[in-house]
Amino acid sequence: MEQFSGYPTQEPDSVSSFSVDAVSSFSVDAQGLQKQIDELSNFSDTPSPSVTRILYSKMDVFARRYIKNLMGLSGLSIREDAVGNIFGRWEGYEPELTAVATGSHIDAIPYSGKYDGVVGVLGAIEAINVLRRSGFKPRRSLEVILFTSEEPTRFGISCLGSRLLAGNEALMKSLETVVDSQNISFFDAARAAGYANDEEDLPSVFLKKGSYSAFVELHIEQGPILEEEGISIGIVTAIAAPASIKVDFEGNGGHAGAVLMPNRNDAGLAAAELALAVEKHVLESGSIDTVGTVGILELHPGAINSIPSKSHLEIDTRDINEMRRNTVIEKTHQSAITIAKNRGVRLSEFKIINQDPPALSDKSITKAMQAASQELNLSHKLMISRAYHDSLFMARISPMGMIFIPCYKGYSHKPEEYASIEDIANGVKVLALTLTKLSLY
Ligand code: GLV
Ligand code: MN
Ligand code: MN
Repeated sequence: MEQFSGYPTQEPDSVSSFSVDAVSSFSVDAQGLQKQIDELSNFSDTPSPSVTRILYSKMDVFARRYIKNLMGLSGLSIREDAVGNIFGRWEGYEPELTAVATGSHIDAIPYSGKYDGVVGVLGAIEAINVLRRSGFKPRRSLEVILFTSEEPTRFGISCLGSRLLAGNEALMKSLETVVDSQNISFFDAARAAGYANDEEDLPSVFLKKGSYSAFVELHIEQGPILEEEGISIGIVTAIAAPASIKVDFEGNGGHAGAVLMPNRNDAGLAAAELALAVEKHVLESGSIDTVGTVGILELHPGAINSIPSKSHLEIDTRDINEMRRNTVIEKTHQSAITIAKNRGVRLSEFKIINQDPPALSDKSITKAMQAASQELNLSHKLMISRAYHDSLFMARISPMGMIFIPCYKGYSHKPEEYASIEDIANGVKVLALTLTKLSLY
């Protein structure tokens, strides 16, 4: 990763930050934290055990209030930016130094679980509580961040809040025209939730490179490795490169009985063929690390006795190797053109929504997390993150690191998602100790 100016040369793991006694007295209020996770999951548009919490919805606003209340109870001073990123700050005794930040998201895709993101927000607030109880005094200020819309559900833009924080002018411009599936504009939705009162405020969301001396995110692994290997802590070294694409085909449609097969140009079949082509191109990469998913496939008019006249696909593809991922995108584009030609349909849209590079964790933060795990006698291993996170974008403005904890069978983005409170508490302790190292140095 690019070094950023002004970064101290001393390694944070070498800071004998905190006495062994203080570390051994670290106490996580596990019961309280579980209660908060359960309570937060009630702010959902679908019944338990599933959680659905969509950006700027009523449930999202209630959940944000819940978090701000907890931040207040933990003595954090709260700031919200124009898109609803929420910052809770514990002022250090050298407040002029750049702060150390931690955090994650609380939005939840339709019918998902209650731990994705949430562990990194509630866990961060609890890490602050742990540190306060232990008598720790931060040198650099500590900040807990709740990022707006890590999930792309409502406007098709993943990590909306952290992308903007990292200073994405193109995204800011595109927000002027973006609408959700109900044709509600981004700004109307944001205003309904109490944000973005003035569109002109958007540039104020941008943070300069070097705004934080470190950013650390606690998250469930969303994969099976830690659980299978019986390891408590995953230390993320890199985050895979994600991309997403929207595709539209248009044909003539018509009566399902009357139009004979040779006379059809079926937009639905073009979509089906492209979905299979995505799978083929992903498998052709020859690497287990290349993945591709068609998670949205819509047909118009959506009647059993009508040939689809329009189809819409949304494709997600990722890899730890950016070039391989880009090859999949290029081949998918070629396939879409060929399929349209062969089937006599129009490829009316092939839009790459995002095509992000991977991010590397900062070595000094990785070392601090390793040292923290060791001091807490927790087994740990280095690993990559196949899911994306707000950390992918925070890495553009700050040295970044991530702490993973095991989750049941690696399940995520479904109601069965589960992490034990013991594993969560371990993650909170590693986060707390890592924050002390990063704050004191
Ligand atoms: C994040 O939610 C992802 O899809 O990786
Ligand atoms: Mn997610
Ligand atoms: Mn997440």
